[in-house]
Amino acid sequence: MKKTFLIVVAFICFITLSVAFTHEPPEYKNLKILPKDISKEALDSIMHHYSRSLGVKCGFCHVHNEELKTWDMANDAKPEKQIARKMMLMEKGINTTYFPAEEGDKNVHVIQAVTCYTCHKGEAMPVSFPEMKTDSLSKK
Ligand code: HEC
Ligand code: HEC
Repeated sequence: MKKTFLIVVAFICFITLSVAFTHEPPEYKNLKILPKDISKEALDSIMHHYSRSLGVKCGFCHVHNEELKTWDMANDAKPEKQIARKMMLMEKGINTTYFPAEEGDKNVHVIQAVTCYTCHKGEAMPVSFPEMKTDSLSKK
């Protein structure tokens, strides 16, 4: 009886420890561009970069379920999230085409020369033309 009890206790300890020390990658449900096994740290840092670059909060691209009071980050209902995906592909395209790493540099394949912030500078709608002052064309 005592022996069985000890075996059961040992078994429970073993399960608890193996759960505690197994770092399963978090399960994101709807990643179409980012790697599916991305770590939580990496995903969080990318999302904070997007928010800061555009000067917005998570809810600009993500759906908040008001009834359940929870975020539904995997939901694609907001058009801003879809636009963001296109922007991610554009950014990747610009960097791989125009900013490849030096030949022989095995650690870096692409330099992150252009990021969301390069264009957005903290605004959701980037400014594409300089402000025109009436006297800006006068040569002093
Ligand atoms: C400018 C738009 C934008 C902003 C702002 C943004 N996200 Fe995202 N987020 C995305 C896009 C796009 C994806 C999907 C990426 C893909 O398909 O690979 C995503 C995916 C995610 C996912 C994975 C969901 C899943 O299960 O597939 C999480 C979690 C997430 N974002 C959290 C956040 C948090 C937290 C914030 C605020 C700090 C935030 N996001 C701000 C655009 C945004
Ligand atoms: C090369 C410049 C450039 C880069 C880099 C860039 N964007 Fe944009 N983005 C724009 C322009 C220009 C617009 C406005 C398009 C328009 O007029 O409809 C825009 C619009 C958007 C919008 C829609 C805003 C709105 O209010 O509807 C989102 C969301 C967005 N970008 C997200 C991103 C994210 C996320 C990144 C980084 C992955 C990024 N952008 C990188 C130029 C850029």
